[in-house]
Amino acid sequence: MAVSESSLPVAALCWRDGCLQILDQTLLPAAEQWVALHDAASAAGAIGRLAIRGAPNIGITAAYAMAMQTALTPDDPAVAEAGRVLCAARPTAVNLAWAVARMQTAILAVDVAERPAVARAEAEAIHAAEDAASAAIALLGADLLAGSRRILTHCNTGTLACGGTGSALAVVSELAQRGPISVLSCETRPLLQGARLTIWELRRGAIPHELLVDGAAAGLIRRGEVDAVIVGCDRVAANGDAANKVGTYAHALAAHAAGIPFVVAGPTSTIDASIATGEEIVIEERDADEVRHAGGALLTSPDTPCRNPAFDVTPAELITALVTERGVASPPTRESVLGLLATPFGQRRDA
Ligand code: MRU
Repeated sequence: MAVSESSLPVAALCWRDGCLQILDQTLLPAAEQWVALHDAASAAGAIGRLAIRGAPNIGITAAYAMAMQTALTPDDPAVAEAGRVLCAARPTAVNLAWAVARMQTAILAVDVAERPAVARAEAEAIHAAEDAASAAIALLGADLLAGSRRILTHCNTGTLACGGTGSALAVVSELAQRGPISVLSCETRPLLQGARLTIWELRRGAIPHELLVDGAAAGLIRRGEVDAVIVGCDRVAANGDAANKVGTYAHALAAHAAGIPFVVAGPTSTIDASIATGEEIVIEERDADEVRHAGGALLTSPDTPCRNPAFDVTPAELITALVTERGVASPPTRESVLGLLATPFGQRRDA
């Protein structure tokens, strides 16, 4: 259901009038339309069609969806089914399954009568923690990249992707507050999160930027036109291998060949310590029509066979540093990544 409240804040989502409101990102930048979600099924649908997207925001949306569904049907089978429906929406970003598991643990620990209030409080706690994580990542990442002026990024990792100001794009915003920078934003085919969403956020932040096609990045890096690459992540394995939007791995290879930093930023909710390496990360394959079309126009024959992996995995050895709210793993290794997870928020640990 569409809502038309012009007073809604500039963010990707907010709780209002007893339900979760999301800014429909499929319509940006042409239109800013908010949509109300009321239960697990509507939230799973919004996640699946990328109306709400970005690893942290997928987790936050799932948390609120569990809360809304628990208010409707608080019994054990319904709580289990809501989790199943949400987790089936998208497989790669671990924040989704992480948030569902955390919500189910909190909900099932109390009597049925208490569940709606407990679920709502837990969802708000997840949202607040992701907001705080963004702020910490911004500061740590900007310290790490001090002196880098020409930054290349991929996909969208700002407010539209996270509960707070972002991951990689929050670092970029912090750098811009500290001194002059310029940003190269890759357009991010097929769904153009860079062209549509990152440029929208950079314009709002008055941060100097240029848009480039994804294939231009390696050549510009090789020609010395980029000081550092920073991207977000959707799932980080225990050894530091990181899944992110398809195209990221190519930027990492180019950065490695040119000897410039390649930095991954994300909250610890994106680390999946249950998997040893990135080999175990399930890569979402999306509909072929996303590749056949751009901006609503058909680019090829309507029946052209396509591959559409939504993510790729960058091996840890190509990653200069992993920046989280709990500290920086530089380089990311099994020891440094697990060390971050063992560090309480607020007690910075660098390794
Ligand atoms: O398919 P999307 O748009 O959800 O992919 C998003 C990304 O790949 C982001 O880089 C990632 O979620 C990190 S956002 C902090």
